[in-house]
Amino acid sequence: MSGHGTTGEPDAGAPGVSGFSAGEVVSSAGGAARSAAGRAPAPVSLAELERQVAEHRDGPAYGQDSLISCDRLVRIFTADGVEVQALQGLDLLVGKGELMALVGASGSGKSTLLNILAGLDVPTAGAASVGGYDLLAMDAKSRLRYRREVVGFIWQQTSRNLLPYLTSAQNVVLPMQLSGRGGLRHKRQRAARAAELLGILGVSHCHDRRPAQMSGGEQQRAAIAVALANDPAVVLADEPTGELDSATAEQVFGAFRTANEQLGTTVVVVTHDQSVADAVHRTVAIRDGRTASEVVRRTEIDEHGRESVVAREYATVDRAGRLQLPRDYTEALEIRRRVLLELQQDHITVRPDDHPESRQD
Ligand SMILES: Nc1ncnc2c1ncn2[C@@H]1O[C@H](COP(=O)(O)OP(=O)(O)OP(=O)(O)O)[C@@H](O)[C@H]1O
Ligand SMILES: [Mg+2]
Repeated sequence: MSGHGTTGEPDAGAPGVSGFSAGEVVSSAGGAARSAAGRAPAPVSLAELERQVAEHRDGPAYGQDSLISCDRLVRIFTADGVEVQALQGLDLLVGKGELMALVGASGSGKSTLLNILAGLDVPTAGAASVGGYDLLAMDAKSRLRYRREVVGFIWQQTSRNLLPYLTSAQNVVLPMQLSGRGGLRHKRQRAARAAELLGILGVSHCHDRRPAQMSGGEQQRAAIAVALANDPAVVLADEPTGELDSATAEQVFGAFRTANEQLGTTVVVVTHDQSVADAVHRTVAIRDGRTASEVVRRTEIDEHGRESVVAREYATVDRAGRLQLPRDYTEALEIRRRVLLELQQDHITVRPDDHPESRQD
């Protein structure tokens, strides 16, 4: 996992972003020496300072306990001399075993992010890691291994996920053959795993059918089986139900839920489908290449034993402390250039600036 310091400088100058400065270490070392000796600070040896610096650096890094960690991720595309900043310092943490959705307007950067997490594209700056793989530092060999064994990917276009001349079962066996996984060296074991996965996802009846003989929803469920073949830590899906009607989309989403619940696979789905977004534990909204807000759902049981799902919406605070105010809020209070912040005991008040000059623009 890459720590801070490898992330380019998108936030250089923002206070406290790195969480560490050499000055802090020097003064705390001096302070400790002074109180111990009760007189002028004892000179701290270079070795001691280096040890303290290393301690800071090796302390819990941002996202250390997360399966997926994106830290100020930047992706700039240049097409015909025009720069497009698809990701503008995006922060995202995803825990092991999560089932979460990414939503956002067209062009907000969702596919760009997913392609980076899939190892298909490389960010311009920032840090990203999945399952301990540093996505900026992988060589070609580890990138191939990462794509075969750590992530599974499902595209929106059903035709892109399966090879047309192979049956579902053969499609599922193929990634196992390519990765040559130790436990599944024998043909019979691979065939058994393919049948098991197709069964879990409810498409056993398509075992010997080629994609052209299957419906769109069946193809997507078989595609999830292919993505799960090598038991990846995470499955990523970009609008997997975009080409399907709502009833079929529900079945496909049910297959993701099954993979998450029965196999413990972490699932990240990009979707425009509100019913999918409502059915996951956490929905993160991306706006202009950054994570802007998230909705977290929890099941609560009341005093009568009744279960209900409670959803709460949070605004994201990024690593530099930046917070995006929802546009409808800023418009309602005519907030334009700046606000007054007041720290209260347990909250922060954000007030419109009532200075006359700020109302002139
Ligand atoms: N290869 C590329 N070259 C140039 N610009 C690109 C490239 N890929 C994406 N972009 C631009 O980056 C921005 C983000 O695109 P992205 O595909 O990530 O959006 P998205 O959120 O997936 O949108 P949609 O919901 O329409 O799929 C857009 O402005 C897009 O035009
Ligand atoms: Mg997209």
